[in-house]
Amino acid sequence: MRIEFTLNGQNARINAPTETLLVDLLRREFGLSGARPGCMRGQCGNCAVLFNGALTRACLLPVFRLEGCEVVTIEGFLRTKEFADIEYGFERAGMDPCRFCISSKVLVAHSLLLSELEPSDLEIERATSGVWCRCTSYSSFVNGIRYAAHARKRRYNERNF
Ligand code: FES
Ligand code: FES
Repeated sequence: MRIEFTLNGQNARINAPTETLLVDLLRREFGLSGARPGCMRGQCGNCAVLFNGALTRACLLPVFRLEGCEVVTIEGFLRTKEFADIEYGFERAGMDPCRFCISSKVLVAHSLLLSELEPSDLEIERATSGVWCRCTSYSSFVNGIRYAAHARKRRYNERNF
């Protein structure tokens, strides 16, 4: 199947079997390894990407759904101003994550702040529970999101003056 879509802001064209999963396609065809195959059942959250702007698990997305759509992986997101907010927040919270879950944590934080700049404890809990992490503390992830929210609000306010 021939598919054309936008990947990290660039036009992408591929030929792939219809049922190929996005997480595999990214690694094999584009050398993008930030979305990590973990459980491959939509549970661990480690294969997160933004699909048409929404947080999505790439292990559940067959390539036939990509036609005309936009995918942003952590590799593309790292080049955005929004990433700077998250990076600041995570560093300020003293997060020192291994590489396994960091891309998903970044995209989860971004996605939450897109929908709510002042997330409640419950909203943070819901968002963060979607990422399985073996190494860093849950509280540092929560604090990282809070600091990132402050940074993003400050940037928006500065932009409006
Ligand atoms: S590999 Fe996709 S959610 Fe676990
Ligand atoms: S920091 Fe290592 S799995 Fe999350």
